[in-house]
Amino acid sequence: MKPLLLPIVLLGGLSLAASAAEPSATELDTIAQRVRACTPCHGAEGRATSEGYYPRIAGKPAGYLYNQLVNFRDGRRHFPMMTYLTERQTEQFLLEMAAHFAAQELPYPPPQRPNVDAALLERGRVLATEGDAQREIPACSACHGSRLMGVEPSVPGLLGLPDDYLIAQMGSWRSGSRRAHEPDCMAEIARRLEREDLAAVAAWLAVQPVPENTRPDPAFEQEPPMRCGSIPENTQAAP
Ligand code: HEC
Ligand code: HEC
Repeated sequence: MKPLLLPIVLLGGLSLAASAAEPSATELDTIAQRVRACTPCHGAEGRATSEGYYPRIAGKPAGYLYNQLVNFRDGRRHFPMMTYLTERQTEQFLLEMAAHFAAQELPYPPPQRPNVDAALLERGRVLATEGDAQREIPACSACHGSRLMGVEPSVPGLLGLPDDYLIAQMGSWRSGSRRAHEPDCMAEIARRLEREDLAAVAAWLAVQPVPENTRPDPAFEQEPPMRCGSIPENTQAAP
């Protein structure tokens, strides 16, 4: 892991240096060392760059992060370095890394400037906050929380992410190259959206400022409108 040291110092230096001030031997053997492999791409704190395609992972729900690590390992998501890094880990380390990044509280980048017209943005707002009952598209907020910052333990927030990342992820669900645990509600929703809906909702989400409290909601306010394999059974209705 030697070659990774330089980018870490450059990218993240301060916080790592601070937390490394009094490292316990076991900590160095475990989390601090392991997350070094993540920082060149996700930032020392797991942050995306403003242009970046490398998603921020800081502050996302631990169950969501863990599910993604498992999805890369098991071939439901594809990115060679992510597969490489997760294949070699024990279950315990995957859990610890997920918990490590979930606990990070870091500022979000400022919202993007709108790059689409007002009508498309409005279409995005309606989809995100109300859905489209006729086409059986639930509001994104029904599962991602009314503040759209996600719901513990396994639904991620949708604000503070660049629109190209959102579009790429929804596109991967439509094409089947990203999958979640079955039933894969996001795949179903992504397929019900037209290409233009996708652009609209991603554009609207990307220009929203994150709320002051960026933490995910502790629980659903209402039961999710569809079954999702990645949401724990006891928080949704029987099939
Ligand atoms: C070479 C760059 C690179 C490295 C190193 C890397 N990642 Fe990633 N990671 C990515 C990219 C790119 C994606 C998004 C891939 C996609 O489009 O699905 C990603 C996605 C993820 C996701 C899913 C994020 C989400 O919101 O769905 C998690 C979690 C994650 N990485 C954790 C880690 C951890 C933990 C490490 C260190 C052990 C790590 N990554 C190292 C590039 C990297
Ligand atoms: C029925 C519940 C439900 C609804 C409604 C829903 N989602 Fe999701 N969404 C999820 C779950 C569960 C996940 C986590 C899937 C996984 O583990 O990969 C997710 C993940 C995502 C992700 C991945 C985020 C990341 O960091 O990679 C995006 C993007 C997303 N949803 C967009 C949307 C949009 C846009 C809408 C509205 C059009 C929406 N979702 C509606 C349940 C839902």
